[in-house]
Amino acid sequence: MFLWGAATSSYQIEGAVREDGRGPSIWDTFAHQPGRIRDGHTADVACDHYHRWPEDVALLAEAGFNAYRFSIAWPRIQPTGRDPVNPAGLGFYDRLVDALCERNITPVATLFHWDLPQALEDEGGWLNRDTAARFADYAARVAERLADRVGIWITLNEPFVHMVYGYALGVHAPGRTLMLDALPVAHHQLLGHGLAVPALRANGAAKVMITNNCTPVWPASDSPEDRAAAEAYDILHNRLFNDPVLLGSYPDLSAYGGLNCVRDGDLEIIAQPLDGLGINYYTPTRVSGPGSDGLPFRLEEITGYPRTAFGWPVVPDGLRELLESLAQRYGAALPPVYITENGCSYDGIDDRERIDYLAGHIAAMRRAEGVDVRGYFVWSLLDNFEWAEGYHQRFGLVHVDFATGARTPKASYHWMRDLIRGGAGNG
Ligand code: NOJ
Repeated sequence: MFLWGAATSSYQIEGAVREDGRGPSIWDTFAHQPGRIRDGHTADVACDHYHRWPEDVALLAEAGFNAYRFSIAWPRIQPTGRDPVNPAGLGFYDRLVDALCERNITPVATLFHWDLPQALEDEGGWLNRDTAARFADYAARVAERLADRVGIWITLNEPFVHMVYGYALGVHAPGRTLMLDALPVAHHQLLGHGLAVPALRANGAAKVMITNNCTPVWPASDSPEDRAAAEAYDILHNRLFNDPVLLGSYPDLSAYGGLNCVRDGDLEIIAQPLDGLGINYYTPTRVSGPGSDGLPFRLEEITGYPRTAFGWPVVPDGLRELLESLAQRYGAALPPVYITENGCSYDGIDDRERIDYLAGHIAAMRRAEGVDVRGYFVWSLLDNFEWAEGYHQRFGLVHVDFATGARTPKASYHWMRDLIRGGAGNG
């Protein structure tokens, strides 16, 4: 059965950051530092999903979704990033999962969507190899409780973005500005993924995958310099996270100074057989080369396409291009693919632009040849806390009034419902 779903993440929607024994995460710390988030927004309340989740489950059901991708807040489960487990935290997700199953909605649970327990950041976060082992322990604890009902587990969400925005550029938590010295964050996250997969399976997990954010990379021209830049960017953004997981090897990272934290046996751990690959797609990336500060590329603007309210170019065919490039590169090593996020930021409840965006991308997904695509999840069910942008970028199918918490389905919500009802069922 093709999965039609909507996606969210814990820190972006839950609120209730100090309730029921939840520990602080790096995002609580970061959002409360002056100047980090646009207009000083925090996610202390966010969509108040922690209290309003029954309403949100009802919205999913009324739209006809047969899957829901949410994330589990590690600091609710292990407030300090290690045992003891906080029973109230597990209880929250247990009730959510039960409610989804009652409505025949497959729970798709992401274990890490960037809200690391602050206590682990105090020990170095993902720069510390031990965080990978902590992550596998946490994964085991959650699976012990929920694996009988969760349909698909996603270990990590977008490890590329977490490394670059969180540790290289400092625009996301934990706010480090290490540039290329952030590379070990890639390896330690991937190691955490690799250790978590058998831990999940040993505790009854049915299907396990990882979600990578991937982008088609376009050279700004046909010049050898721009083509070399495109190849280098593709290595950093796409291959650094897909190759080790699918092929058991890293691409050539010499343009970035290499990775010196890899130990014997790590790549075997990382290359666990998976039941799927989660792909988040938003927009292509155009580069020229070489860049400054020792980087082998420079990011260039994409012109000639409409833009979302966030300013991101709308390029539906980029999704087809991306999917076909994965099939070409990985061949038989590519497992079934799930589009675990695709969506756009626009204001307003009569959101024709979002309908056009979704229709265009779903059509592009269907055009892709040679790829077994098994699911499509809209980012997002609700308008929510868009990280450094605070509440300014609205990605939801459902509008949220952040003063009152009121939910109002947008035109795109009704459009999705009609699409699913109309027998879009086979994808
Ligand atoms: C990807 C991230 O996983 C999600 O948290 C974010 O809100 C969307 N992209 C939109 O930027």
